[in-house]
Amino acid sequence: MKTLNAALIGGGAIHSCHVIALRQMPGVTLRALADINSEVGLKLAMAYQCRFYQDYQEMLLDDEIDVIHICTPHFEHKRMILAALAAGKHVFCEKPVGMNGGEITEIAHAAQNAAGLLGVCYQNRLNPTSQRIRRELAEGEMGKMLSIKAVLTWSRSGAYYTESPWRGRFATEGGSLLINQAIHTLDLMQWFAGGVTRLKGVVDSGELADVTQAEDSAMATLHFTNGARGLFYATNCHTTDSPLLLEIHCENGTLQLCDNALWRLCNGERVKLVSDASTNGVAKSYWGLGHQHAIGNFYAAIQNPEKADYTDIREAGKSINLVEAIYRSSQIRQWIEINQQ
Ligand SMILES: NC(=O)c1ccc[n+]([C@@H]2O[C@H](COP(=O)([O-])OP(=O)(O)OC[C@H]3O[C@@H](n4cnc5c(N)ncnc54)[C@H](O)[C@@H]3O)[C@@H](O)[C@H]2O)c1
Repeated sequence: MKTLNAALIGGGAIHSCHVIALRQMPGVTLRALADINSEVGLKLAMAYQCRFYQDYQEMLLDDEIDVIHICTPHFEHKRMILAALAAGKHVFCEKPVGMNGGEITEIAHAAQNAAGLLGVCYQNRLNPTSQRIRRELAEGEMGKMLSIKAVLTWSRSGAYYTESPWRGRFATEGGSLLINQAIHTLDLMQWFAGGVTRLKGVVDSGELADVTQAEDSAMATLHFTNGARGLFYATNCHTTDSPLLLEIHCENGTLQLCDNALWRLCNGERVKLVSDASTNGVAKSYWGLGHQHAIGNFYAAIQNPEKADYTDIREAGKSINLVEAIYRSSQIRQWIEINQQ
């Protein structure tokens, strides 16, 4: 198996989840890190004993680099993905892959014509609880799905937005709560139900209105392809990061994700099926613990493209569609039909 050289663009909050994952993978070397903030970048590169670049374009000229990890603000994703693919690299990008449908179309076109693969980090799909939900639903014993309820109540302080001023702005983040935090929840809901046909939603800003231009809270009703209904509420205005509460009500019982554990409620019994336990103690539990798994799957696909099992641009685009539809619905106060590809 070929040794793969990895490089990161962006050394901010999320980058360490990538580094931890890469360091635990056999046959993978962290070769370089790029960050426009040279003070931050140099310090990290010294700690990781890798090369440092202030200009990521210069880093892309290094023929020894196989995979580029993009861990930068949202408005940089499209530009960086296109540049890295054009340089012949494989790309693993943090969510959201782009900020809107127009960007997704452009990125999808580039990915289709590129030699390298493009993977997107939706690590929560790989949580043991998520995997078990998919299995329970596929096995069919729960019966027809009737509804999914999801409640995400997280906490973001004013400092979170002022320390990284690209956050909370449409121009640089593409929105706020929906496109950054709640996108994982929307992705899981549509993934469990097999797609969304229409939705009606509303976004608003309250507690964080002084520090964000975009929404700090949102709710939506979704109609899924399988006929079930989705009820979604999310906010960044809680005082702590509560674990996602998600319930899937089916004809024969309910699957309940609560405190990072999955329960099956059936015939008056509540049985614990599986829980999302931390494997390395470093990743924050509310981000999910699947970075290592998601990155591992992507590298396995590079080594063996026939057995590819990672979130590609087509899958990643689905939750962006939903985010955009909720913003639009909130503006015009109407149901939005979802164009499912
Ligand atoms: N998967 C998850 O659960 C998860 C969790 C948190 C963040 N994220 C995603 O990770 C990405 C980064 O978020 P963050 O919170 O780490 O951001 P951050 O603001 O903490 O860090 C961004 C870093 O990128 C650097 N940067 C900005 N522009 C650059 C450029 N042109 N070239 C090189 N470096 C540049 C900044 O200097 C900074 O160090 C976002 O897409 C975010 O949505 C994902």
